[in-house]
Amino acid sequence: MDEWGQIRGVNLGGLLDARDGVFPGWPLLPEHLDLIAGAGFDTVRLPVRWWGHEPGALDETARSVVDLAVERDLSVVLSMHHADGLMTGEPGAAQRLIQLWERISQEYAGVPHLAFDLLNEPRDALTPGEWNQLLPQALAAVRAQDATRTVIVGGARMNSVEGLLELVVPEDPHLVLSVHYYEPFAFTHQGAFWEKGADAWVGTRWPGEPGHAARLAVTQDLTRAAERARELGHRLVVGEFGAYERAPQADRVAWAGWVRAECERLGLGWIFWDFTTDFGVFDREAGAWREDLRSALLPQEGVRSGL
Ligand code: BGC
Repeated sequence: MDEWGQIRGVNLGGLLDARDGVFPGWPLLPEHLDLIAGAGFDTVRLPVRWWGHEPGALDETARSVVDLAVERDLSVVLSMHHADGLMTGEPGAAQRLIQLWERISQEYAGVPHLAFDLLNEPRDALTPGEWNQLLPQALAAVRAQDATRTVIVGGARMNSVEGLLELVVPEDPHLVLSVHYYEPFAFTHQGAFWEKGADAWVGTRWPGEPGHAARLAVTQDLTRAAERARELGHRLVVGEFGAYERAPQADRVAWAGWVRAECERLGLGWIFWDFTTDFGVFDREAGAWREDLRSALLPQEGVRSGL
């Protein structure tokens, strides 16, 4: 479907995928979705930590977010986040992923403007070879319930561009490819408490003036990914990109604006990471957009004011 290759979205990070596993990570208000739609975003990606959760409260919350978003004409990407057992090579983990997608596909059968992101950032024990074997099985679990649902897939190595180049893509007309883009990592993740060694990166700048090699590197990375997607005959989205709050603010804004602009030039959809955690474009305490970031992402849009 063409439209997924043109999306302009934001990740509802930290809501149902909080790093500490507490849900919801922050209170989503219907007004937040009004603001997202009013600012000109057309899509939200909802990362969900289904792994380790029995069917119940988490599913109900996820469903209510999807319904609220769809009511506002926002497309939704539901993402399988933090499937830890797969990354540590836990016995039975592959079967668990397949069963989860059977269950989720049944639940959402018939819901329009909804895509499934099969697995966030495969890595560690889930090598490119292992992921290439598991992917068609997870996809088949969706297809058994839903022949035409858009399914988003990225490569191993954390959905990186390199991972996309190694991905074996099953024959399926309703696939959309994805990469996550956080390069240079020492810039976007400086000071991130969950990344080993990240304190040493604090102060890393992103010298993004026109013609600078830093800008060119982004262009080259995204061009490689776009070319691979074209060869494979699928649309590509950059399903996550963003910089942590400890990066210099002016550089975060310049970087985000450049990645966004290059996505649009290359015909790639994009979904910013994220709405309102420590990467966020929206300041929940102030009840207002971080205007510099918002306008780097959506320069032409009129925007409804804060809460
Ligand atoms: C993770 C988040 C993290 C983000 C940026 C996401 O895939 O789920 O916890 O903040 O990537 O590193």
